[in-house]
Amino acid sequence: MNRFDVSGKVAIVTGGTRGLGRAIARGLAQAGAKVVVSSRKQDRCDDVAGAIAAETGADVLGLACHVGNWDEVPDFVDRVVKHFDRIDILVNNAGINPALVNLLDVTPAFWDKVMDVNLKGPLRTSTLALPHMAAGGGGSIVNVSSVGAYRGSAGQGHYSASKSALVTLTQSMAAEWAPLGVRVNAISPGPFNTDMMQGGERAMPGYTKRAGSATMQKRVADPDECVGAILYLASDASSYVTGEDHVIARGGASPSPWTPPHLGAADGPAKPGPSSAPQSSASVCYVPVCEEEGRAPRCPPCARCVSTRDG
Ligand SMILES: NC(=O)c1ccc[n+]([C@@H]2O[C@H](COP(=O)([O-])OP(=O)(O)OC[C@H]3O[C@@H](n4cnc5c(N)ncnc54)[C@H](OP(=O)(O)O)[C@@H]3O)[C@@H](O)[C@H]2O)c1
Repeated sequence: MNRFDVSGKVAIVTGGTRGLGRAIARGLAQAGAKVVVSSRKQDRCDDVAGAIAAETGADVLGLACHVGNWDEVPDFVDRVVKHFDRIDILVNNAGINPALVNLLDVTPAFWDKVMDVNLKGPLRTSTLALPHMAAGGGGSIVNVSSVGAYRGSAGQGHYSASKSALVTLTQSMAAEWAPLGVRVNAISPGPFNTDMMQGGERAMPGYTKRAGSATMQKRVADPDECVGAILYLASDASSYVTGEDHVIARGGASPSPWTPPHLGAADGPAKPGPSSAPQSSASVCYVPVCEEEGRAPRCPPCARCVSTRDG
């Protein structure tokens, strides 16, 4: 018996058109699953579903859904069941990290947007998939969190809070749904080279290099490198595993790849507070909303901005 076998199972991958989600959808299809590739745009879903089907020979459906729109999800799940007749695996991968925003500047709308996609999306999609999984004899849900769940950092409070909450939501789902035969786990990736990471690079030039050098392997990961963990959690290979978070992150805990340089060092442990900020005149504030650069009213306190603000 191949305990990693997912052939014949129906798997939904939200945020499946790019980055980790696309690699996960492809990996599940290669392992024999019927896959639903979903993100916000139907044409993107169709394109990616077609490409994965052509490459793997699997039955792949592209179906759009904005998982942050609470009322949009029921129709999505209904259409999946109408097409494939069951749901066995759900990978809640869709997630956003729209900008670096200082906590003092977070608006309710911005906070809600992040929570809607990163936290309420997995909750909504899971609760709607659950009865179909239970009716089919059980299932596996994997929530894609982040190492950011375990360490808050400047400009990332919204993201880290959403991902921390997703880890504990995973534990609650696992506890409530174990009697239904549904296992729920999380993965927490470290730095993976995706569009999201490129967004970090644009906001903080040099970010990718720093994130890679903070790992034991001194590199960022390729999206395909999360597929093994997903196959393990989605399949019977992990039949006694539920309510767990699986970190896929560089084998180290510090510094957080999301820590802007003025709060941590590239090759050593993160240091607390502005006293560790680079002091030379050549130092750069990597926060894109830097007051000194005149682009926004304030930024987290680095040495330069503290001196600007206070002096
Ligand atoms: N990359 C990393 O280093 C890293 C590290 C830790 C955790 N993660 C987590 O891993 C997951 C995937 O990240 P990624 O780096 O692959 O991101 P990405 O490259 O930005 O891709 C995100 C995917 O989600 C879709 N999406 C965005 N908003 C959506 C919404 N409201 N509803 C449905 N789909 C939506 C996107 O498609 P459309 O824009 O077309 O809708 C795209 O397919 C996220 O949860 C992220 O937080 C990533």
